[in-house]
Amino acid sequence: MKISSLQKARYEYSPKLPGMLRNGIADICVKEGEETQSVADQDKIKALFPNTYGKKEITFEKGKNTSEAKKQVVGVILSGGQAPGGHNVICGLYDALKATNPENILYGFKNGPIGLIEDDYLIFDDEYINEYRNTGGFDIIGSGRTKLETNEQFAIVAEVCKKHGITAIVIIGGDDSNTNAAVLAEYFAAHNTGVQVIGCPKTIDGDLKNEDIECSFGFDTATKTYSEIIGNIERDANSAKKYWHFVKVMGRSASHVALECALETQPNICLISEEVAEKKMSLSQIADYIADSVEKRAAKGMNFGVAIIPEGVVEFVPEFSVLIHEINELLAGSKADAFNALPTWDDKYAFIEKGLTKESMEVFAILPVSIQQQLFLERDPHGNVQVSLIESEKLFSALVKDKLEERKKAGTYKGKFSALHHFLGYEGRCAFPSNFDADYCYSLGYNAFMLIQYGYNGYLSKVSNLSKPASEWVAGGMPITKMMNIERRHGEDKPVIKKALVELEGKPFKYFEAHREEWAENTCFVYPGAIQYYGPAEVCDITTKTLALEKGTLE
Ligand code: FBP
Repeated sequence: MKISSLQKARYEYSPKLPGMLRNGIADICVKEGEETQSVADQDKIKALFPNTYGKKEITFEKGKNTSEAKKQVVGVILSGGQAPGGHNVICGLYDALKATNPENILYGFKNGPIGLIEDDYLIFDDEYINEYRNTGGFDIIGSGRTKLETNEQFAIVAEVCKKHGITAIVIIGGDDSNTNAAVLAEYFAAHNTGVQVIGCPKTIDGDLKNEDIECSFGFDTATKTYSEIIGNIERDANSAKKYWHFVKVMGRSASHVALECALETQPNICLISEEVAEKKMSLSQIADYIADSVEKRAAKGMNFGVAIIPEGVVEFVPEFSVLIHEINELLAGSKADAFNALPTWDDKYAFIEKGLTKESMEVFAILPVSIQQQLFLERDPHGNVQVSLIESEKLFSALVKDKLEERKKAGTYKGKFSALHHFLGYEGRCAFPSNFDADYCYSLGYNAFMLIQYGYNGYLSKVSNLSKPASEWVAGGMPITKMMNIERRHGEDKPVIKKALVELEGKPFKYFEAHREEWAENTCFVYPGAIQYYGPAEVCDITTKTLALEKGTLE
């Protein structure tokens, strides 16, 4: 296999562990803290998790290792979207497992949870694992989005574990995957299988965080990768002085990625979906807000700028959600066939006009034709609109263009507006992990094995104090049930890990809010440049502005 010079160099990188895990396996002891309770709906969660609810928070410390000496056979899966650092979680897990006992075995189940169901696996050895150290991607075993959530599936997994003598499963995933990890842990405990389940917090979206989990892995590298590109685009815009760039960034629903990129690059505009929902902003109001910046900058002779659009924003615009709901109803079941049979877009448009309410039709009518057609033609297997496919960066630039034309007619705006569009998503999910993610992920994996070794079940591997140098990080574990509440999903009450949206009272948003007016009118761009892996710690090891603001290490 041909590898790049960087990949070769990264093989030699030694990820930094938290101080208390640096003394060798024989010197890691456990300290149990308080019993825990779920963040909400305690009685209901307790009733659903009678065997795993209320367990104690734990922290590792330097001291004599008192865990039971037994052979461990561990299975690991990667679940959901790729996030930089996944390989290092597995490397850390493998190293701790082998350092504890060279006879221990690590199975990697392939292509996500389905690998466990289909018993499709490989067994890691040094040669295989060494090829993936400090690299991006999930190709070490592959990932997938199958959900592990039914008792039938759990029974199959229990059989697979029995067949291989597996003592523990590590699930590397986001909020849904870790919710399912908690349910699986409860199933294993209730059925006395003796198999433990440990989760690790992954997602570039940054929405798996709470008072225990400071950030999910991958968020640091992905946002640094996007910020590098946005900074480069800003510099191009400031050089050519003739384009407005509309940059959509990934993040299925929460706007953490967009906000972090804005804090890093200080663009003229960054929409925050949670604010759009809170203020019940309409498409027209959002377009006016962006057009105000374009107009003010044009008045100063700056017919250029950069706007960041979070991937999920349209779902947070109340009138747009209603429109989507009506379209789904309009084409439900066999009605879609009647629609599809209509020969021209004009015929289809007339059908739509008849079927939507007046309010939704008004929203529909202002959309560019390409977006209108996208809403009706590209639908998922259940016939629903695929909101994630909507090119919101093009939608907003088209709406802004209309607004500017109106303003031109009214004589208030005399500038030029030429827009370019970008979508940053997959570019950041498999980047070489930053030093932060390489260290954090390796620590999460190493720590996950210590939780297994000490017999814990239904815990999330927890590494905290992350805004400080790695030597000061704190390693331990938290029962997943502590992070759960009851939410309505598909018409049913379900126990789930609470998804973290951007908090409008939180310090990262407040900082952005305090500066955005100045950024909107003037050119305050910041150019972060590419992730640096070698060099001074203040360039290479610093994590996100979001975390620094949340933890008060940045004011
Ligand atoms: P996870 O929540 O599974 O980590 O995935 C996040 C994400 O990258 C989102 O940002 C994005 O909307 C989605 O996955 C894309 O999914 P897919 O890889 O299936 O296209």
